[in-house]
Amino acid sequence: MLRFEDVPRPTPGAGELLLRVHAASVNPIDWKVRAGHMKDYIPLPLPFIPGWDVSGVVEEVGPGVTNFNKGEEVYARPDVTHGYGGYAEYVVVKETETALKPKSIDHVHAATIPVAAATAWRALFNTAGLQKGQKVLIHGAAGGVGSFAVQLAKWKGAYVIGTASGRNQAFVQKLGVDEAIDYEKTRFEGVVHEVDVVLDPIGGDTQNRSWTVLKKGGILVSIVAPPSEEQAAKYGVRSALISAEAGSSLLTELAKVIDSGNIKPIVETVLPLSEARRSHKLNEKGHARGKIVLKVA
Ligand SMILES: NC(=O)c1ccc[n+]([C@@H]2O[C@H](COP(=O)([O-])OP(=O)(O)OC[C@H]3O[C@@H](n4cnc5c(N)ncnc54)[C@H](OP(=O)(O)O)[C@@H]3O)[C@@H](O)[C@H]2O)c1
Repeated sequence: MLRFEDVPRPTPGAGELLLRVHAASVNPIDWKVRAGHMKDYIPLPLPFIPGWDVSGVVEEVGPGVTNFNKGEEVYARPDVTHGYGGYAEYVVVKETETALKPKSIDHVHAATIPVAAATAWRALFNTAGLQKGQKVLIHGAAGGVGSFAVQLAKWKGAYVIGTASGRNQAFVQKLGVDEAIDYEKTRFEGVVHEVDVVLDPIGGDTQNRSWTVLKKGGILVSIVAPPSEEQAAKYGVRSALISAEAGSSLLTELAKVIDSGNIKPIVETVLPLSEARRSHKLNEKGHARGKIVLKVA
């Protein structure tokens, strides 16, 4: 259960920064961990503070920090496995998981980037090697990861097909998809063929039905469930399961792309920190349009 309460202000150790948090974004992992669904994969000390995404200002630098100074605006991906995440007024982060915040956006929008945009980037570019002119099917195109993935793939010059519910059709078209598929009305595997890359943030039946849309040699990248090696072999395609990692260099790269104006973080709802419980209830519905952000300062 989430409880809003006072805790001592943490102190940065070697190579760490203390941030005054301005905003923290909400990811499905936050409520999955809170509910105990991830206890076999991500063991956490209890009680813990959730929040893998923050944007704020450097309040204090720990010993040995060389890249950041007090007063700088930064964003980061805290290592919550120590028990201290971003749903707080102050958080300690490692220098190596922090970068200067994109200058063109505020903290609320910057806080949406470290998990969702970095996951989309790693899936599409580092893992799938998506190239200009290739065709990509992005499931869950309206969600936190999907809304970044659509924009990143278009920025790369790919042909983008996105799946979303009826409610989100106009939204994903506005994001820039070349084709939007309403998964409530149309079975995507009946209309999508010969794609180079499938990005799967849904798993289950959606993942199982995705093999046939890939061309030979294509790749299915899941961010939620390990794809079947037998199925990949049967269809002559590759597959991968990745997890979000965002160090300073990827966050710096993402800040550049955001500041170039090509990618816009989409914020659906902003709530005060005291309403973190409500933010989880909203996110647990699984039908996000962009991101939910907790505004702290
Ligand atoms: N591996 C990693 O490191 C990593 C990193 C980030 C996230 N994840 C995981 O990836 C998943 C997605 O994360 P997220 O932040 O994008 O979640 P999110 O913001 O809650 O978005 C989920 C999206 O899925 C869509 N959706 C639901 N059912 C669908 C279906 N059958 N077909 C197509 N779209 C469907 C929803 O839109 P509609 O209303 O249109 O249905 C919603 O926009 C979560 O399970 C999360 O834990 C993993």
